[in-house]
Amino acid sequence: MIKINENYLRLQASYLFSEIAKRVSAFQEANPERDIIKLGIGDVTRPLPPACVEAFKKAVVEMGEDRSFRGYGPEQGYPFLREKIAANDYHSRNMDISPDEIFISDGAKCDTGNIQEIFATDIRVAMPDPVYPVYLDTNVMAGRTGEFQGGRYEGIVYLESTKENGFIPDIPREPVDLIYLCFPNNPTGATIGGSMLKDWVDYARENKAVILYDAAYEAFIGEEDIPRSIYEIEGARDIAIEFRSFSKTAGFTGTRCAFTVVPKSCKAYTSKGEPYSLHALWHRRHTTKFNGVSYPVQRAAEAVYSEEGKEQTKSLVDYYLENAALIRERMLEIGYECAGGENSPYIWVDGKRDSWAFFDLLLERAGVVCTPGTGFGKCGEGFVRISAFNDYDNVERAMRRIKEALEGSQ
Ligand code: MLT
Repeated sequence: MIKINENYLRLQASYLFSEIAKRVSAFQEANPERDIIKLGIGDVTRPLPPACVEAFKKAVVEMGEDRSFRGYGPEQGYPFLREKIAANDYHSRNMDISPDEIFISDGAKCDTGNIQEIFATDIRVAMPDPVYPVYLDTNVMAGRTGEFQGGRYEGIVYLESTKENGFIPDIPREPVDLIYLCFPNNPTGATIGGSMLKDWVDYARENKAVILYDAAYEAFIGEEDIPRSIYEIEGARDIAIEFRSFSKTAGFTGTRCAFTVVPKSCKAYTSKGEPYSLHALWHRRHTTKFNGVSYPVQRAAEAVYSEEGKEQTKSLVDYYLENAALIRERMLEIGYECAGGENSPYIWVDGKRDSWAFFDLLLERAGVVCTPGTGFGKCGEGFVRISAFNDYDNVERAMRRIKEALEGSQ
């Protein structure tokens, strides 16, 4: 009799964004005349930057010709892309990251989900609450948690992000081994300053822990003194793995390209206490389980770093930031406290009621989809996340309708 992986049975019924999509399509079916504006899942709506489209097309043509056709590429990514990333994202800001410490992949979701595989199952894992559900669910699947009780899994150290701490969790009092951090944060939109990030780096160094730093939204940081990468902090190379993505920066949610940085000096330990290179382990995993991102997609990603590409991606990011500012301003105007939306595409709104009730109210009365905060964890209860990823006209219309709906419900 074949047995299943029963860790999966501990998972909550469905993945948050699938559950929302299901509810929205049921509502749409029951109300076919209603116009729905989606500010739920952070999915971009603006087309790819022209520089990326040009590079993409050119690479497709190359693939159709005898002399330039390519088969399997390197699993870790083509050197042309890894070199551009190292130079533009790291060396230009004085961070010492080499191209061979960069692993190209088809998404930060997959990488942040898969990375836990290279660590033991009996480690202590700490993660924020609220949190991007992928970090938590993949640890549940791997058997690092006990039962789900009272909104939380046994065995996880939850790092509470609340209004009181400005949505930046405190350093845990107990020693932990693996720490997930995400800044600018999904879902709260909070950012972390250099000195607080240094406290985390120091903690990890003292405790021989590793920080998994999700920087998928770094392009939305406008303020100069907010770190864009954990490697801006001295000593981080030895204890941190960083995840980045072209999805939100350059509109690649449907095109798929991201990367993970695993510095060669970053170590974890064998059961005998001997240090072992995480770069070597991730390299082994990546080359075994992944065959690389397609050549045209990597050429399109490379174009993000051309002069035109830089200008075009900046204007894309600025476009969504304008939406974020509008959402934030309107919610504040009608008396709802917000975090995020300033160096982030997400606005975390205190809904002053149950998260799903607020979600239903916005859907039913305003025809607007948001994400209920409770889907990101217990500390998300009472909040909703509004995403700035949509066209400006839609965001304006959505905010008019939200204003009417909320003012009518008070
Ligand atoms: C989100 O809405 O949180 C993101 O779109 C999820 C993702 O990037 O996978």
